[in-house]
Amino acid sequence: MDRMGRKLWLSIAFVCLTIILVGCGTGGSSSGSSLDVDADGKKKLIVGTDATYPPMEYMDEKGNIVGIDIDIVNAIAEAAGFEVEYKNYGWEPLFPALDNGEVDFAVSSITITKERKQSFDFTEPYFIANQLILVPEDSDVELFDDLADKRVSVQINTTGHHVVADLLGKTSSKIVAAETMPLAISEMINGNADASVGDNAVILDYQKNNPDVDLKTVEDDSFEKEYYGLMVKKGNKEVLDLLNEGIKKIKENGKLKEITGFDME
Ligand code: ARG
Repeated sequence: MDRMGRKLWLSIAFVCLTIILVGCGTGGSSSGSSLDVDADGKKKLIVGTDATYPPMEYMDEKGNIVGIDIDIVNAIAEAAGFEVEYKNYGWEPLFPALDNGEVDFAVSSITITKERKQSFDFTEPYFIANQLILVPEDSDVELFDDLADKRVSVQINTTGHHVVADLLGKTSSKIVAAETMPLAISEMINGNADASVGDNAVILDYQKNNPDVDLKTVEDDSFEKEYYGLMVKKGNKEVLDLLNEGIKKIKENGKLKEITGFDME
């Protein structure tokens, strides 16, 4: 290459580099934060959820996303000084939405588990739960182990699904894995399953709101305590710190207990 040619290549390379650097610079705001800021200068976080899970997160008649989890997140946002906007993704699509940055965090009665911690980060726990079995009133099921030869419906890829898979085998055709918990319960009521297994608050809420359906719940000591956390993309320390700050505050000022009715510690 002659001198002119080399010079030309150098200038092209320089222009390209400048474009790349400028492009990067406009990506983040000057504070080093990637979060949007609203008119009052407050950070605004997009929150993803699966709003099919009453009383935790569901749609009211007007189509608003409401529930105990939503009250908790609103309290956290107020305590830590940020705004929130909820988006309903459904359960399974919620995880990739977090991964690809469409949402800043997820609230969905998500149990903090070792497996999930490998791919996502969790806040401090804000709610305690456990699995509960729901069966027709005349069922002979008394213990979890009684489900070993039964068809069991669950919401797919939930901790309920995991415990049932441990008992029946991961690929068992006796597991009816529905997209939502209400659908899982319908499968049982329609006779496609002998029992449903899911988070206690949701099972109890269903039973309470459907007194015409003859159902009973069965507890089992083998079900471990589960702790719900808010979930962020792995490594998103900015959002994680903000959420933990809010959780700490609403634990200290009694607001969390006011919403859930129980002490976390
Ligand atoms: N706690 C269970 C889990 O983490 C079930 C959560 C399901 N939440 C929902 N909104 N559908 O696997």
